[in-house]
Amino acid sequence: MQSQVTIKTLYRMKEKGEKIVALTAYDFPFARMVDESGVHLILVGDSLGMVVQGELSTLPVTMDEMVYHTRIVSKAVRNAMIIGDMPFMSYQPGKEHAIANAGRFLKEAGAAAVKLEGGAAVSEIIKAISEVGIPVMAHIGLTPQSVHQMGGYKVQHDEERLMSDALEIEAAGAFSVVLEGIPSEISEKITKALTIPTIGIGAGPHCDGQILVLHDLLGLNERHIPKFVKQYARIVDEAKNGIKQYVEEVQAGKFPGKEHSY
Ligand code: KIV
Repeated sequence: MQSQVTIKTLYRMKEKGEKIVALTAYDFPFARMVDESGVHLILVGDSLGMVVQGELSTLPVTMDEMVYHTRIVSKAVRNAMIIGDMPFMSYQPGKEHAIANAGRFLKEAGAAAVKLEGGAAVSEIIKAISEVGIPVMAHIGLTPQSVHQMGGYKVQHDEERLMSDALEIEAAGAFSVVLEGIPSEISEKITKALTIPTIGIGAGPHCDGQILVLHDLLGLNERHIPKFVKQYARIVDEAKNGIKQYVEEVQAGKFPGKEHSY
């Protein structure tokens, strides 16, 4: 069993070239499995809007919903560092608003850090949150909260902009950065240029760590599966088989049997 992961663990891992493993989780049973499997970072991502709530984007997710999910995840986790994802419009309106909402993740929900999307445009907000003692993970490249501005979920190729965003968020005090939907060569350059760990999703193998959405990895998401996802299990098939058997056995009068009756 690994010991409690902190920011220092992550810096040490980057220095030694050890890969950081991150995964999302949104509820108690899955958070426990993720934690017990040796994952270093658990992100309670606003992706929950799409994989748990059935929304078509992450935009409708609210602060209260994020606090609720982060709190139930934190009850299950012993070792991983928990990061609460700041939902759309919980930080963009300004520093005070952002600090107050970031604080809720630590005060009410048991997170150790927050994540927010954006580069140079949110560097002042990253600085303000970091300065009150709340570690901030940044997120650049394909940023799902800007889906309408990007014209869809598109790989981002503007190397100059990505590099300047990365350097600016590091200077603002971010402890780590998610690189999403970025060609491998660009993420490699960014990873080498930064002292903080980069965590990639659809950003190739050269990042300091990797993250996936849990429901994609487990085959729990029956919607579009992006190219960067590897399905390590097919839980939907397994679950449907079990549920179908239950339906059949109830209808056939086989369940409950004597052994399940009082
Ligand atoms: O919301 C989320 O799950 C994320 C990860 C995909 C990085 O932002």
